[in-house]
Amino acid sequence: MTSAALRSRAWKLLEMVTTPLLPSDYLDLISPLRAGADLRGRIEAVQPETGDAATVVIRPGRGWRGHTAGQYMRIGVDVDGVRLWRAYSVTSPTNRQDGRVTITVKAIPDGKVSNYLVRRAKPGTLIQLDQPTGDFVLPQAKPAKVLFLTAGSGITPVMGMLRDIEFDDVVMVHCAPQPQDVIFRNELHDLVADRKLRLTEVHTDTDGMLDIARLDEIVPDWADREAWACGPAGLLDAAEGHWSVHGVPERLHTERFRPGIVVAGGDGGEVTFSATGRTVDADGATPLLDVGEEAGVLMPSGCRMGICFGCVTPLKAGAVRDLRTGEITEAEPGVLIQTCVSAAAGPCDIER
Ligand SMILES: Cc1cc2nc3c(=O)[nH]c(=O)nc-3n(C[C@H](O)[C@H](O)[C@H](O)COP(=O)(O)OP(=O)(O)OC[C@H]3O[C@@H](n4cnc5c(N)ncnc54)[C@H](O)[C@@H]3O)c2cc1C
Ligand code: FES
Repeated sequence: MTSAALRSRAWKLLEMVTTPLLPSDYLDLISPLRAGADLRGRIEAVQPETGDAATVVIRPGRGWRGHTAGQYMRIGVDVDGVRLWRAYSVTSPTNRQDGRVTITVKAIPDGKVSNYLVRRAKPGTLIQLDQPTGDFVLPQAKPAKVLFLTAGSGITPVMGMLRDIEFDDVVMVHCAPQPQDVIFRNELHDLVADRKLRLTEVHTDTDGMLDIARLDEIVPDWADREAWACGPAGLLDAAEGHWSVHGVPERLHTERFRPGIVVAGGDGGEVTFSATGRTVDADGATPLLDVGEEAGVLMPSGCRMGICFGCVTPLKAGAVRDLRTGEITEAEPGVLIQTCVSAAAGPCDIER
């Protein structure tokens, strides 16, 4: 074995015994945002937006390549000693002069990372970052007429776009339970006052959920507009159906924060995380990513919905079920699985 290979093995062993903190984290104590380090960022401020949402201001380390408006980035944070990865849309404009970026997070009931970021994260905290990615972006040429259809935290990628360029003709329909739940409300109303945006707020506590057919009345020329929609599955499913029925599906671009329909799970089994040396029982419907995190295993992840491949892990033995399709994958040399959309289908061993 070469000395480089030995060093690499020794480093890996060290990583295993120091889980969930990695040796590189100790270097962070000295020079966290240094060039050549894994990409990291420092939280510099957490600014409340609504009762349950906040904007997190992050200074990325060297190596940050910047984003395109509408993209998201994966961040890794340590919550109660466990490193968890989640995806958040970038809400700052691409030309922000001070080199900082922002994400805006809505705390959801029992949400580990969202509640940590909104309620507990302190300036100075180091987090891990991945380069921004995603294709929920504007085309090169500015569209003549734009429609943004958003709900709840789904406003975030769209706010990134609104802050980035000035549109000639843009209409936004945004849904939130009550006026005080509308994230960025003051800024949106300033754009309206400056005639840079036409906005309809749907307050679902009083108006009820948006019936997508109402678009005809709220935005009569909706079908002529290039549209970007982000929000809960119900709204996006309805929008996709509506745009398809009217023969203009290519005009609608959607971004989902959660996986689409998942198939019912089957029998679960005993899951072994052989690198960590832990074995737990899992049902057939819980993603192995959640099972591992719950067991204190260091599990890489990102979108948690099967799109970013940030959770890919070798399946050493046994079988897993893809929760989107029901398809069973059996272990073979070189077989990789996405732990965020795979559940145990009998006993299995995954290399974490
Ligand atoms: C591409 C992309 C961009 C995203 N951008 C943003 C953003 O800008 N702002 C933002 O606040 N969030 C965003 N999200 C969602 C974010 O990644 C997390 O899923 C969310 O913060 C919940 O994480 P958590 O750890 O708090 O919840 P978990 O601890 O993972 O989950 C707690 C419970 O809530 C459920 N749950 C998980 N996610 C959601 C959700 N999004 N809505 C409702 N219930 C959920 C889980 O099933 C579980 O029961 C984005 C997701 C993706 C894939
Ligand atoms: S976490 Fe993104 S594909 Fe699994």
